[in-house]
Amino acid sequence: MTTIIGLSGSLRQHSYNTALLRAAAALMPAGASLDVRTIHGIPLYNADDEAAHGNPAPVRDLKAAIAAADGLLLATPEYNNSIPGVFKNAIDWLSSDTDESVPPIFTGKPVALIGASPTRFGTLLSQAAWLPVLRTLETKPWFGDRLMVPHANKVFDADGRIVDAAIQERLRKFIAGFVEFTAGAGRHRPAGME
Ligand code: FNR
Repeated sequence: MTTIIGLSGSLRQHSYNTALLRAAAALMPAGASLDVRTIHGIPLYNADDEAAHGNPAPVRDLKAAIAAADGLLLATPEYNNSIPGVFKNAIDWLSSDTDESVPPIFTGKPVALIGASPTRFGTLLSQAAWLPVLRTLETKPWFGDRLMVPHANKVFDADGRIVDAAIQERLRKFIAGFVEFTAGAGRHRPAGME
């Protein structure tokens, strides 16, 4: 079984990005699963708080889920042509290795990006803005396909279901490609835990 964590970078109840991940979960190929998570409950990163109290529970939970999964699919909104601060903040918490009892979770991890927005370019620039972050975290990014979902207000219905058959098909193809890449990458083992 190839296991993927899908992490949405939006806190909105009716988020297009969370809806995109839920749609992806329903399109997973046989032998693969997608567990949809959000960044709810993660506080603003403060190194003093981390030094005093360690990782907050939502960070610990997400770290454990990502560490246990074979791959990570980030669904990013776009704010001001870049990464929304709340999503970057969550990744900063997740990447902090001050707590040595938790091994780094991103090193060598297969990662892919998708995103949806109501505008014409559909997260083109926020996806580009993630690239130096993925490199810094020493992930194993998958660049075999791209999925920017523009005009998201027309792609999803009021219940967050995809009503655009072409996007649905592109999502299915994207997910199949990422699952194949992840399955071929072998299970990630943080340094020292091989
Ligand atoms: C936006 N939005 C937006 N969209 C886009 O395609 N490019 C952009 O630069 C921006 N900038 C931006 C800034 C701010 C402050 C807000 C609040 C919004 C619109 C954004 O894509 C839209 O709110 C999406 O619905 C956000 O994603 P979720 O929450 O639906 O997943």
